[in-house]
Amino acid sequence: MQFIKKMKRRKLIVTILCTGLLTGGLHAQTAKARIKIDVERQTDRIDRMIYGNFVEHLGRCIYGGLYEPGSPLSDGDGFRKDVLEAAKALNTSIVRWPGGNFVSGYHWEDGVGVREQRPVRIDLAWGFRENNSFGTDEFVAWCRKAGTEPYFCVNLGTGTMDESRNWVEYCNVEKGTYYSDLRVKNGYPLPHKVTYWGLGNEVDGPWQMGHKSAEDYGKMALETAKLMKWIDKDIKLVVSGSSNYGADWTRWNRTVLDYLKNHADYIALHHYAGNRNNKFDEFMASTRFAERAVKVTEGLINEVRAKTNRNIYIAFDEYNVWYRARGEEGNEEVYNLEDALVVATYLNIFVRNAHIVKMANMAQLVNVIAPIFSTPEGSWRQTIFYPLELFANHCHGTALQTFTDCETYRLRAEDIPYLDVSSAYNEETREVIINVVNRSENNAIATDIISQTGVFGGKAKVFEVNGQNIKDENSAGKQTVQTKTKEVTAKGEKFTYSFPAHSYTMIKAEIRL
Ligand code: AHR
Repeated sequence: MQFIKKMKRRKLIVTILCTGLLTGGLHAQTAKARIKIDVERQTDRIDRMIYGNFVEHLGRCIYGGLYEPGSPLSDGDGFRKDVLEAAKALNTSIVRWPGGNFVSGYHWEDGVGVREQRPVRIDLAWGFRENNSFGTDEFVAWCRKAGTEPYFCVNLGTGTMDESRNWVEYCNVEKGTYYSDLRVKNGYPLPHKVTYWGLGNEVDGPWQMGHKSAEDYGKMALETAKLMKWIDKDIKLVVSGSSNYGADWTRWNRTVLDYLKNHADYIALHHYAGNRNNKFDEFMASTRFAERAVKVTEGLINEVRAKTNRNIYIAFDEYNVWYRARGEEGNEEVYNLEDALVVATYLNIFVRNAHIVKMANMAQLVNVIAPIFSTPEGSWRQTIFYPLELFANHCHGTALQTFTDCETYRLRAEDIPYLDVSSAYNEETREVIINVVNRSENNAIATDIISQTGVFGGKAKVFEVNGQNIKDENSAGKQTVQTKTKEVTAKGEKFTYSFPAHSYTMIKAEIRL
């Protein structure tokens, strides 16, 4: 009874995100918000691969981004050293290549061997000329230098099954076969050992070269997957899931999962957010659809698991804010503070759903809708760099189920909590990591942060991404939006922290059990 009375005084949002249950509560004001952390309420290990990126042969992503031979800023292989350093600072765990829409017309053999003899082709996805001077061997070499895992995507648009399995042979077979010997001849005696392979890109979209129905794609992807795994049984395959949400995307995911249930290790989801109506509160809630897509796809995975008992996970292998530089040359979006906050809400989704999302790739890495921006003179960090950098460097360990109780705002038929939260427990450092986006444009939100198992040890480190104005941008000479750090006292069962308006905050606090 006491509890019910208490509930009536509050607008209660209980977020048990591992089950996806969202309960809108009763009415009245919440003076203070509450976040409850319990290191025993665990979701699953956070896979480092949720902090990945994507590079595509598009605009200045590869040429002038990763690769600029002859530039004083490049190393002996032609790789931009400043971009490599920025990628390392992002701790990027896995990088998807070569597309994107580009891959649906890409023939990998064009991009190996003597550089001067590689053909120049017209890329029909983006309308650029591709000289193929950066190909398989260059990308793998770049990944090794960046300390990241290569993730290839094969051409299931205009490509053939043979091309895909030959690519696996080129990369992963040691020697003694046509394609492995070709690699050796090209100067790479050791196999590249590429583990992660995508089975086509956004084949559900009519904008894609070689767009197919779910059935046609399912059949082709299955036959391709068989051949690729027969070349190397240890590779992991990603089936192309939904990107076209105007179409019947659940049917697409169900169908392709059913075809690939014995071969795919992941299903890819793509989602981009945008603020076309220039409404902050709408924009801040725009990634909720991405979480719904995760939940629905998890259900579809469970449906096929009932038939196979194999694990299939979600690879959210394209996500970002993208709505301004669409269709313009090179898609060089310039990001502001509100975009960085939306990126932090994507990352919260991946952490909250760590049991099923085992890979995620921000699209992209440099220049094209990217956290890193380079010019011939140097490079700088966009606003969206900072939340990704914080998550990728600090949010490791086990994801926790987080209880959040805060005020909400009404958007169409939904109550949107002002605080968007994820948390994790790092067993090695004995710290909890709490990620909070305050979706309120004008109000700070005072919050009691309560530990339900063990107590806070004394000091907590706070990292904050914020700025004066939600439209603040960075540029070559000015890092207006970046991470600010400070220490606060966090001792005993609870401490209070006020999350500033329009901010993303990460708190790292020691826990004593
Ligand atoms: O990342 C840019 C493009 O967005 C990719 O080429 C495509 O897969 C998606 O539509």
